[in-house]
Amino acid sequence: MDLHKGTVVYFSPTGGTKKAIMCILDGLKIEMDEFDITGMAQGTSGREFGGDELAVIGVPSYGGRVPKPAVEKLRLLKGNRTPAVLVAVYGNRASEDTLAELRELLSEQGFICVAAVEAIAEHSIMRHFAEGRPDENDHRILKDYGKIIAQRILSAADDEQLKHADIPGDRPWRQYNGIPLKPKASEQCMGCGRCVNHCPVGAISPEHPDRTDTGRCISCMGCIAVCPAHARKLNSVLLKIAEETNKGKFKSRRENKLY
Ligand SMILES: Cc1cc2nc3c(=O)[nH]c(=O)nc-3n(C[C@H](O)[C@H](O)[C@H](O)COP(=O)(O)O)c2cc1C
Repeated sequence: MDLHKGTVVYFSPTGGTKKAIMCILDGLKIEMDEFDITGMAQGTSGREFGGDELAVIGVPSYGGRVPKPAVEKLRLLKGNRTPAVLVAVYGNRASEDTLAELRELLSEQGFICVAAVEAIAEHSIMRHFAEGRPDENDHRILKDYGKIIAQRILSAADDEQLKHADIPGDRPWRQYNGIPLKPKASEQCMGCGRCVNHCPVGAISPEHPDRTDTGRCISCMGCIAVCPAHARKLNSVLLKIAEETNKGKFKSRRENKLY
């Protein structure tokens, strides 16, 4: 089966998910459009895919699940026996049900999940964990897998021969109810509003970008990542406690898993 075009769909508040996906694309060597569904106003129109294009769809793992705002946007995608590569990116603890949840969601919507990857990226909250990843070694592994995926698709005579990859995991999915770490703006905030547009859930007021609705905030850290004045931060004491409490779970280097 010959694929000439594709679209990469990603929810990536701090850029780690996008970075890991780009390593796979390096190996796929198919021209891809980008469909960023991160910001609240992005990806709301949905998108329909043909059977002759490839979808590469990636999300970070939050508490072992697909982030809720990403689920809502992914539900707006429609495949027509469209081959899809699924990517769950996590910060070196575990991605648990993320990939299985993604597989269920997208196969119900007309995608054939031909391959999947659990990829490591720097932890977007506790940045010492998996710092600098994906690194050179990750890049090589993901790029090589991109080549294998391209070969897998090319060697299928038609979409009837494409098979769902064997992605482990079953319902019930684990429960995730968020975390109490919410970024706040300091007086360095210039009110530029970049964080307002980037926030996936509209938790930052357009009139007062230095205010955050902590009830809505999903702790994605996107506002910290895009702030040009470095005005948005987590409470350093709470962050230190979280790092100390969790360091055992992050100690050993985990590797990318390929399906
Ligand atoms: C709210 C939240 C929950 C997270 N939960 C987990 C987790 O359960 N396991 C893990 O290994 N990493 C976890 N991470 C780390 C992210 O999955 C990882 O850093 C990912 O690269 C972030 O994606 P992004 O850079 O595209 O925003 C979490 C990050 C956030 C912000």
